[in-house]
Amino acid sequence: MSNHKSDLQYISIINEYINNENFQKIKSIEHHGITRFEHSVKVSYYSYKIAKILRLDYKQTAVGGLLHDFFISSNDRTSKEKIESVFTHPKLALETAEKEFNLTAKEKDMIRSHMFPINISVPKYMESWIVSIVDKIVATEELSLKFKFKVKYAYNLLLLFFISSVK
Ligand SMILES: [Fe+2]
Ligand SMILES: [Fe+2]
Repeated sequence: MSNHKSDLQYISIINEYINNENFQKIKSIEHHGITRFEHSVKVSYYSYKIAKILRLDYKQTAVGGLLHDFFISSNDRTSKEKIESVFTHPKLALETAEKEFNLTAKEKDMIRSHMFPINISVPKYMESWIVSIVDKIVATEELSLKFKFKVKYAYNLLLLFFISSVK
């Protein structure tokens, strides 16, 4: 995972948010083969670093990135529910985040528009574009790792079946 823990400036920005009782709940929710908490921190930290390099508002970027997937869901969702969530979760994340924190217009926009173009909400700020792009890159990496593991698992099962069926 990212080396965000040794970045004290970053930690001081997100500390209040990650220690929130409800935000802590996403530590136990599966997301792209890891936890939603780990995914959120990754998106937040990489977006923060890019925003810093581009001299943008890195504090709000860290917060918006952290909260972009802040919604509580069951680990036992059906495939249909997961597909529906692709379209509905930005709104849900925004509602959840607004209940817990006072958000700026920019932070709200980062959450609302992070699924663009799947979701029709177009990012209004450069920081929102960064979160949206970083989220896609991070998600692709996470899903490819998850998929590879499944292929390996299925291959091992097939191999075991084949070996056990040889007389
Ligand atoms: Fe998302
Ligand atoms: Fe995400």
